[in-house]
Amino acid sequence: MNEVRLRRRWRMSVCIAGIVTLLLVPFGLKGQTAVSPPPAPLLGAARYPEQWPESRWEADLTLMEQAGVRMVRVGEFAWSRMEPSEGQFDLDWLERAITAASKHSIYTVLGTPTPAPPAWLTQKYPETLRMYEDGRRAEHGNRQHFNFANPKYRELTRKIAEQMVKRFGRNPYVLGWQIDNEYAEESYDPETKAQFHQWLKVRYGTLDNLNARWTTVYWSQTYFDWSQIPIETRYGNPGLLLSWKRFVSDTWRSYQKYQLEVIRANSDPRQFITTNMMGWFDGYDHYTVSQDLDLAAWDDYVGKAHLDPAVNGAAHDLTRGFKRKNFWVMETQPGFVNWASINNSLDKGEVRAMAWHAIGHGADTVSYWQWRSALNGQEEYHGTIVGADGTPVPLFAEVEQIGKEFAKASPALAGTSVKSEVAILHSYDSRWAIQWQKHNREYDPVGEIVSYYRPLRAISQSLDIIPPTAPLSQYKLVVAPGLNVLSDEAANNLSQYVRQGGHLVLGQRSAMKNDDNGLQPERQPGPLAGLLGGRVEQFYALIDPVPVQGQFGSGQCKLWAELLSAKDRSTEVLETYGKSNGWLDGQPAAITRQVSKGRITYIGAWLDDPGMIAAAKWMTDVSGVKPALGLVPDGVEVYPRYGERGAVFILVNFSKTAQSVSLPFEMNDVLEGGSKRSVALPTYGIAVLSAPRR
Ligand code: GAL
Repeated sequence: MNEVRLRRRWRMSVCIAGIVTLLLVPFGLKGQTAVSPPPAPLLGAARYPEQWPESRWEADLTLMEQAGVRMVRVGEFAWSRMEPSEGQFDLDWLERAITAASKHSIYTVLGTPTPAPPAWLTQKYPETLRMYEDGRRAEHGNRQHFNFANPKYRELTRKIAEQMVKRFGRNPYVLGWQIDNEYAEESYDPETKAQFHQWLKVRYGTLDNLNARWTTVYWSQTYFDWSQIPIETRYGNPGLLLSWKRFVSDTWRSYQKYQLEVIRANSDPRQFITTNMMGWFDGYDHYTVSQDLDLAAWDDYVGKAHLDPAVNGAAHDLTRGFKRKNFWVMETQPGFVNWASINNSLDKGEVRAMAWHAIGHGADTVSYWQWRSALNGQEEYHGTIVGADGTPVPLFAEVEQIGKEFAKASPALAGTSVKSEVAILHSYDSRWAIQWQKHNREYDPVGEIVSYYRPLRAISQSLDIIPPTAPLSQYKLVVAPGLNVLSDEAANNLSQYVRQGGHLVLGQRSAMKNDDNGLQPERQPGPLAGLLGGRVEQFYALIDPVPVQGQFGSGQCKLWAELLSAKDRSTEVLETYGKSNGWLDGQPAAITRQVSKGRITYIGAWLDDPGMIAAAKWMTDVSGVKPALGLVPDGVEVYPRYGERGAVFILVNFSKTAQSVSLPFEMNDVLEGGSKRSVALPTYGIAVLSAPRR
């Protein structure tokens, strides 16, 4: 059946479903929707109907339908239109916007408008404005000027969310809810500080306990009253710094709960609840905030330069790890942004490659920000899909192609998800702890994670990023680069994994700190040192690189070197340092020990790229990890997704030259048809190949 007929048939079924829903309403069956949601993967766009006269909507929606857009996200900054004065709600226009879209087979995700409180609100309740660290209050005129901890603000956010959900919680064309937008800004007002003190009381119970766990006798920091405890965000007692961040994470979670609970109570269970996160952003612990959500989503922007598939892919995998299932890209750049130091455009073809790279990593939706730019406002220069004049920009055709391809691939991708044999462990506590005490200005904890991720992903072709307390038994190899803060719970999880036959690799700076960001009383890797049969004797921040050699081959160590020792007879030295500062010369840089069927390895050196490639090869060989598809040319990315009917492999060529990939067995070409033993991929070329269960 051709595309047009398929669409007509689909529209007809939507129409019939709509009539059935209307007929069911009087019988109290309103919640039981008869409209099935559109199949993944979905192409989407951020739509702001409030910025345009209604007479213009039809033209935009017609173009959206032409582009294959099946989802629009609406509403997240429109509070002043939804509630022009306190308690006066106007959602009629929003209902018309949702209905107008549905007539073009386009579903809506509703954003609650709480990142942008109206001017009447902050004028009437100035305490709802957040306070900067220097004591100034934010003013109206931008967004995210609200105070996330303020009870009045929370009450008002719940009210607007309640109005929205009572109106749209059973609307069959509303797929789900995005609460707020990109949580980010903290508040340092006295009320929030008092809440922090309360939070500390709950966590530590007594001041004596807090004082002991933070070692506050140091520099006479001892607290005699909770109210004496300051807020520090950069340079302060490490226990205090970490507590503030944990409080911030819990405060975002409770901020979100105000809206989430009312939405949950009044919406059809079919409607999901999410919020849009920001990849590697570390303003709060995303595992904490994700707990209550149905779906993880993030906003994927390259900014300056071009897509680095490892850096960006790791952020996808990180987001997938929040709920450990498929996720959404709620926003991504249509070519270019307006906020980078140079807002260059992605190359022709790169936007499409980026979309498929997202689907490969487990995204079920790729949604562009934004469809069309507002005629005024802070983001006039941002990339869009249609111009301010409402007609397509050059990128439109590429987006249209993505829309067609998503529709074509959806039967093959239905019910598929990512499964990996390798996991990287990631924790916000550890990233923060390193950021606060870098010891080497160049030391970037995300850079450290990516240094492991890049070669491990290239070899295994699939990788999960998960917290250190997650279940690990499915993995052949678990790597913890820079797991600086190690809680007892995580330590037990990791030792159990090794004892049950897994291979754990700890990277440099691991297991130095306890759960209060204090030093472990044993040398690194603290509670895992016994299992390793070795330890870190000393760490050194490096100015110049140091040569390393051994079983991984030769390479260079940069930024950071830990002098290791093998204490147990069964602990082997894998790599040693070459000539350096005298202390490191000839000393162990990486050690490993087999523990019954399992293994634990410690790498104390930040290896350069060739060194990391060799180390990754050793780790995967020893652990029996195989590439999901087989060997492919450099620069070709392989993304497997698995379902009941078999595997789907998405291939994207990010190299600068055309590549030919030979396949291990015959596969179906989902987009082009036919079965193949090899595929030719130009730069940014993609292939979607299905392999029935064998
Ligand atoms: C995001 C934000 C959007 C838009 C976009 C521009 O961070 O959620 O509203 O501002 O950036 O790149």
